[in-house]
Amino acid sequence: MKVISVNDQIEGGKVAFSLLKDAMSEGAKTLGLATGSTPLSFYKEIANSDLDFSEMTSINLDEYVGLAADNAQSYHHFMKENLFQYKPFKKSFLPNGLATDLQAEARRYNQVIAEHPIDFQILGIGRNGHIGFNEPGTPFDMTTHIVDLAEDTIEANSRFFDSMDDVPKQAISMGIKSIMQSKMVVLMAYGKDKADAINQMINGPISEELPASVLQNHPNLVVIVDEAAASELD
Ligand code: GLP
Repeated sequence: MKVISVNDQIEGGKVAFSLLKDAMSEGAKTLGLATGSTPLSFYKEIANSDLDFSEMTSINLDEYVGLAADNAQSYHHFMKENLFQYKPFKKSFLPNGLATDLQAEARRYNQVIAEHPIDFQILGIGRNGHIGFNEPGTPFDMTTHIVDLAEDTIEANSRFFDSMDDVPKQAISMGIKSIMQSKMVVLMAYGKDKADAINQMINGPISEELPASVLQNHPNLVVIVDEAAASELD
C-alpha cells in the first residue's frame, strides 16, 4: 500500500489523474468509477484533459434502488453531469436501480464485470468504512448484491435530498470480491469525517466490520489523503 498526502482535494484529483494517465499508457482499458463528493476533483481533471476515452470502458460501483437514471439524485445522473457529458466512454455501465428483478440485475452486472476486468478502480470511503455500498458486515467474498443501507450512510447521504424520507434505503452495489480483483485501486479521502475510517482501514485489523480494511490485502493500492483525513494515522 502506498499512502500519498496532499494539501487538498484539488491536488488529490491531480495525483489520481496522473496515476490514471500512467495506467492508461500501460494499457488500462476499463475504469471502475465511484460517486460521492470525493472523486469530483479527479473527474474535473479528466474533463479538462485532452485524454481520449472513446475506446475506454467504465463500470460504476453502485446505484440506488428505486431511482430512475434521469432522477437528479441517481448515480446515473451524477456520472453524466460530472464526467460523461464531457468525456464519453465507448461503453459505460451502471447497475439499473429500477430493475424489477434485482437479483437478475445483480447477475447481469457480475457478467459485465467478468467481461470487462477492471484495470483501475477509483474509491471513496464512507464514514463507517464502507466502499461502494458494501456496508459493515458484508462478507468479503460477495459479488454484486442488494444492500440495506446503514443508518449512518442514509444520514450522510441525506444532504443531497430534500428530506430523510426521500433518501433511498437500498442500493445495488458491486461486491468487495470484484473490487479486490481490479488490477489497481486508488482510494481517496478528504476531511476530518473520514479520519477514523482511514486510520482503521490502514492500521486496524482486517475485518468485515470495516469493509475498507480488506484493501490491506490488495497488491496495488494507492491511498490519497489530505491532512484532515490523515489526522488520526499513527
Ligand atoms: C456513497 C458512495 C460511495 C462513496 C461514499 C462517500 O456511499 N456509494 O462510493 O465513497 O458515499 O461519499 P463522499 O465522497 O461524498 O464522502
